[in-house]
Amino acid sequence: MSQINYSEKIPNNVDLANDRTLQRALEHWQPHFLQWWHEMGPSDFEAADVYLRTAVSVDAQGWAQYGAVHMPDYRWGIFLADRVASRKIGFGDRMGQPVWQQVPGEYRSTLRRLIVTQGDTEPASVEQQRLLGHSCPSLYDLRNLFQVNVEEGRHLWAMVYLLHAHFGRDGREEAEELLARHSGDADKPRILGTFNEPISDWLSFFCFTYFTDRDGKFQLKSLAESSFDPLARTCRFMLTEEAHHMFVGETGIGRVVRRTLQAMQELGTDEAQALRGQGVVDLPLLQRYLNFWFSSSLDLFGSEVSSNAASSFANGIKGRPDETTQYQDHLCTDATYELQTPDAEGGLQKETVSLRNAMNEVLRVAYVRDCEIGLKRWNMQIQKAGHDFRLKLPSTRFRRSIGAWANVPTDLDGRIIAREEYQRRLPERLPTPADRTYVQSLMQRVSTPGKMAGWIAPPDRGINNLGLDYEYVRLS
Ligand SMILES: [Fe+2]
Ligand SMILES: [Fe+2]
Repeated sequence: MSQINYSEKIPNNVDLANDRTLQRALEHWQPHFLQWWHEMGPSDFEAADVYLRTAVSVDAQGWAQYGAVHMPDYRWGIFLADRVASRKIGFGDRMGQPVWQQVPGEYRSTLRRLIVTQGDTEPASVEQQRLLGHSCPSLYDLRNLFQVNVEEGRHLWAMVYLLHAHFGRDGREEAEELLARHSGDADKPRILGTFNEPISDWLSFFCFTYFTDRDGKFQLKSLAESSFDPLARTCRFMLTEEAHHMFVGETGIGRVVRRTLQAMQELGTDEAQALRGQGVVDLPLLQRYLNFWFSSSLDLFGSEVSSNAASSFANGIKGRPDETTQYQDHLCTDATYELQTPDAEGGLQKETVSLRNAMNEVLRVAYVRDCEIGLKRWNMQIQKAGHDFRLKLPSTRFRRSIGAWANVPTDLDGRIIAREEYQRRLPERLPTPADRTYVQSLMQRVSTPGKMAGWIAPPDRGINNLGLDYEYVRLS
């Protein structure tokens, strides 16, 4: 098991001290990263003491330690999960051959693109969440936001390490570009659409960590199967941190629901205006936020039918999530996949494609199933409180920008409708400007230890066995 030496300038478990060239390259990148964090990271909280978890080893038992840290001093260690001895390629045309410790020349540009695309999302989300600290509903939530932020920073480091270690000069240039693109920037936006959407309120933050970090989980899971072993090991370790990001989303939305149900009980009504008078989030408004972030996150999986996805599978570059444990057929040479796609006349057609070409869709379907879990839990609360309302994931056809359903007007159940009707009914289905203004009006900072904003219930427990009234962030 590899321990991390935190006295090093760049803490790592990749034996950086014995690769002087790589160490120098990363030490050159480090001040650029810190400058980026200063300019684009959480604004105005550099002096705050934040109770953070820091990864200190890749051992599943006791991999992290907790303590008060200034965020700019958080040590963004580079970690690869421990090597699995004599690991073999687990799928595709080269199944059974030893995994690669170096990038094969013929896959260099494909692997670089995958790593850059994954790497780009990490700083993007920090940028998106930059201003949220000013309107935190509690110190507990503020700490969770910052925990997510510093770990996304570490994920960026992990990807930059791969670029520097395995892609030479191109890799170093890509690492600089990761700090030059910015979320929502008109000239140099982030690569993927969802990562350019503003996150200006905490309801959006919880939806983002629920839906978009979960996309991250599935991308990481499929890259953790990669034949390029350093990438697989990096992603495997990132998954341990990702779980907390989704926890923040799931429990955040669950607490919003709980608080709203209390207000519904007190007022004896589910009428939106009455609830808004009480300063809580009515459930149809929450549903519109879910519709927005879910549909946006679905596009991150790419087109239903994709020759890129097929060759990444064939070449062993990107597998399915849990490829080794969840599937019998790891070759998928003869298997097919059935899709329903829109035809030219506004109807539906059945398409049978090779399974390899449908890998994006396989991933998306697994993701949607995972998304359902939280909805079940939230709906359980609503049901227990005696209400008929149910939160629901919209159809995967709704409001898509990429793939077979891109720009096809459908209702929430995925039925194709006239464009005019689609436009007319959008205010029922997506957050309206009035919704957003209302949510924004709730965003008032609460920073007394143990106190919560009125629109969200307290969590069930604190961090790392500490009480809810613990001062998770010392602002002074
Ligand atoms: Fe991440
Ligand atoms: Fe994340």
